[in-house]
Amino acid sequence: MSAFDRRDFLRLTLGGLTTAIYAGSTEVGGPECFGQERVDALRPANVRRPIPGPDTLILTWQQDPTTTMTIQWIGPEVTEPENIWYATLDAPIWQIEKAITKPYPNTDLKVYRCELTGLKPGTEYQFHLGRPDQETRFRTMPAKATNTIQFVSGGDCGVNLHAIGTNMLAARQEPYFALIAGDLAYDNGRSPEVFTQFLRNYHEHMVDPQGRMIPMLSCLGNHEVNGGYKKTRADSPQYLSLFDGFYSERTYGVFDIGDYLSMVLLDTDHIAPIAGEQTDWLARTLSDRQERPHLIVANHVPAYPSYRPPEGLNGKTGTGDEQRVNWCPLFERYNVDVVLEHHDHTFKRTHPLVNGLKDKHGVVYLGDGSWGKLRIPKQPESRPYLAAVSPAYHVTVHRLEGDQRFHVALEETGRVADVCATFSKRPARRG
Ligand SMILES: [Fe+2]
Ligand SMILES: [Fe+2]
Repeated sequence: MSAFDRRDFLRLTLGGLTTAIYAGSTEVGGPECFGQERVDALRPANVRRPIPGPDTLILTWQQDPTTTMTIQWIGPEVTEPENIWYATLDAPIWQIEKAITKPYPNTDLKVYRCELTGLKPGTEYQFHLGRPDQETRFRTMPAKATNTIQFVSGGDCGVNLHAIGTNMLAARQEPYFALIAGDLAYDNGRSPEVFTQFLRNYHEHMVDPQGRMIPMLSCLGNHEVNGGYKKTRADSPQYLSLFDGFYSERTYGVFDIGDYLSMVLLDTDHIAPIAGEQTDWLARTLSDRQERPHLIVANHVPAYPSYRPPEGLNGKTGTGDEQRVNWCPLFERYNVDVVLEHHDHTFKRTHPLVNGLKDKHGVVYLGDGSWGKLRIPKQPESRPYLAAVSPAYHVTVHRLEGDQRFHVALEETGRVADVCATFSKRPARRG
């Protein structure tokens, strides 16, 4: 990219991002990355509207994101839970769905869950609890990626003001969904009130400028589990009380979204061991999806950490050791496009890597979980697998355009920390 093209690119908003990269790049086949520049004009200011109903109400998915939506909230026990009324936005023929009630562990409160099924893909809906006098909106994922698909990801939130600021920044990007890959609330499996506050913050701020609530996908981190690692489902009472719809039998899984995207969500040894059953499942899951236009993996503990030591010290294993042995060879073999990993509380992007070494056909790892938590990262000079780092609270915006991907790391201030683009599917690498 020439200097002129680079300046042009950096003057553009995220809305013009792909146009700028197409115009400026001559490389096809590998990642194209830029960084450390300020962009003042992002999306217009977030136009949030008050969301009626319980202040913990959030959206997620248990099944197909193109035809379902799961609505959940926390509240006191009632004899007759409110029904959900829902209809498409443009032709409102109202339908009613009942909510189920389940325990919200270690409290007197309940989880209310209502799954809407048989929805139309790529369609805006309105819904409300009880009387139909106030609307809340959502949209289903499209079945085909005929237009740009945009979502946001990050990890390590908590409930502080930085986490709220990142929520607001994330919502302004109008993502179809937010993926938070571990360490959501920092309830540690012991503090339901902290988890509840996380839900309140998400409910209040994760509403896009059009007034649509943003569904949340997630995976386990150590701070969802009492004890952090090698524990049982009973040690993650709050997290699993909301997300056991998707993680009903095991704490890893895959969302296949339309004909364009698969999101593989893993458990880095918090409840499910890395080696063995989970790795066998991962090999089958990736093998079956290696030709998908976008194949993305997310997990909490990084294979290529930006803060903690990757090498074992004093007889302990290094951070990511087990993943580098069991999972990274599968990511490389089965054409995973990008791995999202967190836990170290920095912004980081690795070089494309094969077996830990820079390789233009390798896998890029993005992280490292600083939605609301922060540490000072190690520098690329001391860890050659790192391509870019920043000690900044951040969220990453992912844009899917055809079979091309753009990953834009936005700092809390709106500053663009980094942009990484990949232009075509890598050739399959087998054996
Ligand atoms: Fe964390
Ligand atoms: Fe963590």
